[in-house]
Amino acid sequence: MTIDAPNLAAELKREIARRRTFAIISHPDAGKTTLTEKLLLFAGMLRTAGMVKGRKGSKAATSDWMSMEQERGISITASAMQFHFRDHVINILDTPGHQDFSEDTYRTLTAADSVIMVLDAAKGVEVQTRKLFAAAKLRGIPVFTFINKWDMPGREPLDLLKEVEDTLGIAASPMNWPIGSAKEFQGVVDLATQTMHLYTKTSKGGAALPDTDLVPLASATPTDRLDADMLRALRDEIELVREAGNPFDRDAFFQNRITPVYFGSALINFGIEHLYDAFLELAPAPFARKIAKANGDTATLDPADPKFSAFVFKLQANMDPKHRDCVAFLRINSGKYHKDLQIKVNASTKAIRLPRPHTLVAKERETVIEAYPGDVIGVIDPGLFAIGDTISEMGGFTFEPLPHFQPEHFARVRPKDTGKRKQLDKGIEQLGAEGAVQIMWDWEDITGFPIIGVVGRLQFEVMQYRFRDEYNTETTLEAMPYTCSAWLEGDPATFKKPLNARLVRDRKDRAMALFTNQWEKEKAIRDNPQHRLLDYA
Ligand code: G4P
Repeated sequence: MTIDAPNLAAELKREIARRRTFAIISHPDAGKTTLTEKLLLFAGMLRTAGMVKGRKGSKAATSDWMSMEQERGISITASAMQFHFRDHVINILDTPGHQDFSEDTYRTLTAADSVIMVLDAAKGVEVQTRKLFAAAKLRGIPVFTFINKWDMPGREPLDLLKEVEDTLGIAASPMNWPIGSAKEFQGVVDLATQTMHLYTKTSKGGAALPDTDLVPLASATPTDRLDADMLRALRDEIELVREAGNPFDRDAFFQNRITPVYFGSALINFGIEHLYDAFLELAPAPFARKIAKANGDTATLDPADPKFSAFVFKLQANMDPKHRDCVAFLRINSGKYHKDLQIKVNASTKAIRLPRPHTLVAKERETVIEAYPGDVIGVIDPGLFAIGDTISEMGGFTFEPLPHFQPEHFARVRPKDTGKRKQLDKGIEQLGAEGAVQIMWDWEDITGFPIIGVVGRLQFEVMQYRFRDEYNTETTLEAMPYTCSAWLEGDPATFKKPLNARLVRDRKDRAMALFTNQWEKEKAIRDNPQHRLLDYA
């Protein structure tokens, strides 16, 4: 296949500029699914709202996506969903929460160029939000904040902004300001233009944008809905925010030092359009990524580089019972996908043909025709790829390695039949390499049965299923009392270990400490100033 270079350069430039690849993160129930649905709805990708209503019983977030997929032919790879909106190509990456929460959820964020963090107005920053935000921060990914459920009784906006700053360590810059709250929630003031967006619910429930009146704040006069006292209070509050708030700074946003904050309600669509417009305007298109060359030099790779490159951020085995195989999900970082690509893995210079990519649409495999930086493609993995691998036409380099995140549930695994130790070890090696679970051994005794660490409990079930299915080995799990962990930097021999903590080694022989609770971990940090305890490695 011959590619016309000047045409390709122009095509890449155009396609990159219009792509927005992002993930939505939240604690369960804050409104991630509802917001996703509304973004699709307003892009014309869904006909009705409230499909998520029927999702009780269909557990995982992926099922929600499946129902969206059946509604309309949205391209879904079980890992990303692509659609067009106002000349943009939007890729929403799936970040499974609820029962499906796993290391994959974290790793998916490394494939995002930006993140929308959804908070519940009554609950503020919750545990899972904090963990996911930390993963985004680790990679310096810009984060938008959407404070949802403003139609319900919640906390004060200033109090929520302060919590974002205090608990997440990022400056919060309000971009709009709510007019009233709960039943009195009437709209938002766009702080940049000082314009009130006053909403009236339409009769179509959540299926349509509300009617919107735009009124300059300065010339607003009291109405039935917004009396003189409310208007005065609103003006005072906005004046306070203008004087004391953090002004938005695009560079700081791109470096994860400031988060633009939007108030609204995904359920009744108030403030959604404002968030959407801002997202399209502010969210970065795919940008240059850091690389390490085989000789140790570092550099950056521009997405408009004509040569194809991508990295593997997720491996999923047995996705389709009809085709027993493993699918590797690649996020494209440069160049254009075409079907005859010859690629190299990591620093290797040996060329191989990239297996046939596909997306899964309506349960049928549909071959991907064109894909550009920011897009996600799934390829059948004939056993070539590992999580974090760099795939490129040029070879000889790698993107930043994917971090491991601290597991929070631990169990020792044994085969029920002691004669199956070999199969167990083989399975352990495979699952560890895939990054499906983290494998550890006691620091002093590496011959014992391994300890499995996971981020979400469902991973234990998946692991036991795979031992049975792929290695013909029934296993037992002995739960262990640890709830958090850290990688240890410094000499393990001099580490002052809290009484109930345990020292283990991971697959790469790195020391890790397992703790029964957060308090114990914090004590270990205080007691060991010569060591560093890291939440990721
Ligand atoms: P998640 O994906 O983050 O877990 O949250 P999801 O969107 O599923 O929303 C969780 C619950 O919160 C749902 O109610 C949803 O309708 C509700 N919700 C989402 N956004 C808003 C909002 O802006 N205002 C209000 N008042 N509620 C909101 P549910 O009762 O758990 O489910 P359902 O029976 O409504 O489906």
